[in-house]
Amino acid sequence: MCPSKSELEALTEKSTGQKRALIQVLQDIQDRIHWLPAEALEHVARTLGVPLAQVYGVATFYKFFSLEPRGRHVCTVCLGTACHVRGGQALLEHFERKLGIAAGRTTPDGKFTLERVNCLGACALAPLAVVDGRYYGRMSEAKADSVLAGVREDGDP
Ligand code: FES
Repeated sequence: MCPSKSELEALTEKSTGQKRALIQVLQDIQDRIHWLPAEALEHVARTLGVPLAQVYGVATFYKFFSLEPRGRHVCTVCLGTACHVRGGQALLEHFERKLGIAAGRTTPDGKFTLERVNCLGACALAPLAVVDGRYYGRMSEAKADSVLAGVREDGDP
């Protein structure tokens, strides 16, 4: 989904000419539509008065920004060493089966994105998964099913 011109204007107008607001504005747009399309980056560059190359530089530097469409719900499975030895790979494969997508992909309905990372900094909780920003330590396949069912029942279309 790409934002309309009026949506972009609403998200950026309070920061017109404020180069220092760049990260916050990009965050606001990503919070709204879950990714940063090229049109949005160009609009931000014009509105804030920041060179487009600098906007792309920031958007690609920080891992939490995505230049690809993402689902409304993001599932992240850790495959760092601690999580890997405690079943992280099997957990990731379980998410792939349940969502019907490979890691790094988004479901065709735009509902879920599945990602893998190398260590989330909470190794004592291995294996670890994060769903919509919430950490689930000692994650099991049964727990993953329960979390995904909860997300699906959340009234999301
Ligand atoms: S290896 Fe998974 S949190 Fe560190």
